[in-house]
Amino acid sequence: MIPRPRLLRHLSGSYELTSGAIVSGPAELAGAVLAALPGLDLRPGDAGAIDLRLDPDLGPEAYQLVVGSRGVEITAGGRAGAFYAGQTLHQLLPDGSYRFSPGASWSVPGVRVEDGPRYSWRGLHVDVARHFFPKREILRLIDLMAVHKLNRLHLHLVDDQGWRVESRAYPLLHEVASHRPRTASNYYHEPESYDDLPHGGYYTLDDLAEMAAYARAREVVIVPEIDVPGHASAILAAYPSLGPTGEPFEVLDRWGISPAILSPLPPTVEFLTTIFDELIGALGETPYFHIGGDEVVLDHWAASPEIDAYRESLGMSSMGPLHAWFLRRLADVLAERGSRAVVWDEAFVSGELRHDTVVMPWRGMEVGRRAAAAGHDVVATPVFPLYFDYAEAASPDEPMAIGDTITVADVAAFVPAPDGWPDEERSRIIGAQAQLWTERIPDARTLDYRTWPRACALAEVTWSGSSGADFTERLEAHLGRLDALGVEYRPSDGPRPWQRRRPHRPGVIPVAAVMERLDHSTHDAESTRPSV
Ligand code: ACM
Repeated sequence: MIPRPRLLRHLSGSYELTSGAIVSGPAELAGAVLAALPGLDLRPGDAGAIDLRLDPDLGPEAYQLVVGSRGVEITAGGRAGAFYAGQTLHQLLPDGSYRFSPGASWSVPGVRVEDGPRYSWRGLHVDVARHFFPKREILRLIDLMAVHKLNRLHLHLVDDQGWRVESRAYPLLHEVASHRPRTASNYYHEPESYDDLPHGGYYTLDDLAEMAAYARAREVVIVPEIDVPGHASAILAAYPSLGPTGEPFEVLDRWGISPAILSPLPPTVEFLTTIFDELIGALGETPYFHIGGDEVVLDHWAASPEIDAYRESLGMSSMGPLHAWFLRRLADVLAERGSRAVVWDEAFVSGELRHDTVVMPWRGMEVGRRAAAAGHDVVATPVFPLYFDYAEAASPDEPMAIGDTITVADVAAFVPAPDGWPDEERSRIIGAQAQLWTERIPDARTLDYRTWPRACALAEVTWSGSSGADFTERLEAHLGRLDALGVEYRPSDGPRPWQRRRPHRPGVIPVAAVMERLDHSTHDAESTRPSV
């Protein structure tokens, strides 16, 4: 079983669960079990094969599950607990239960399970800006997350290479900024080359509403990200007046860090307030809203007399604190709408944030620990081992990756909140999240390959707290479920011939060297970085 339950005891006997079996108990809990086992054609009713009870003392995501010869008994702390009990029950059935199999009947072994998550944030991030993934792929990913008890889907909706959501107030965003005429195909330090194929796409607000409702029914919260003020080429291609200079930009067709940045002046805050209202209006309840804050190049702010005067009027000595001030303003706007801001760690390093802002330390857990010590909730997102755009092996057989190497074992060994940290800091680590940046992930088949089975290890770490000694064996068995679900995961001995794609360049970008450079840069908020 993945993730490993807190307690699992095998009992004698078994129960035959048949298609059309009755689920009884509080309607909300029964609905959750039906949602977790969609292929079984279960029906709500009185006194059934699966009997549910609510015990709020367990905590909202926790549950107990007993399978005996007379049926299945579930005690859940809330709807989420009932949903996860359903997922655990599903994993007790044969792999075939993950296939469409109308009329099937499944033998469930007798067990007693007591379970609940170690961390509340068990996340996957998908960059839909560098490459767009249509709604159907996001819905499928939500289904796969639910199987693994992952519960936060962070959608990176804008970057230099594209804007990915309809705006009725600012329609040039989806009309102009949602596509580019071509995409760079060369690797680092190689001569520039392009594919000369248009790439683009965006979610309508109706799509976004559907994705959020679909996610909610599976206990997944969508965390939208509008990454500002940097990474702004696409926004400025649509609305150049939001930039410090008003000069025109194009949706970028190559990778790297661009100097494009939004102005921090009041019209930008007004623009973003309208965007937040449109997105939250579509998503519905949005407990977390990511506002980026990473990889800002402040040169265009410094070169603008208007922005410089604004900085001076706020009593700030440099542009770094103005960056933090701008994000704090946006966090206040979000708070008025019931959303907590989430930021990448540069925002924390650059100055004072709202106290309730959640920090994602991508440049390493040292800066994450500093954010925790300063009282911020922290979601562990370090490049190593949680950037799943790195190859699983330093081999030209791998599909071309951003760098190498991050293995399943690396992810399984990750400890978000190490024992040696003080309790105040450990308690601020609310979970962990894997990042799927998509410069080198051009399509959904490659996304499957990069996500699975590393995300199985992430699920184990975030739900169970750490991977169990038998994780490798359980993962081997779990692959049968992924096969039945049609997941094109990476086999443990490397890619199948058709999964190789364009050859990776091993050793050009070793992850250890990246981590060393990033850790160094966290000590200097305004360090200059290579730009496009
Ligand atoms: C990041 O990788 N720029 C968050």
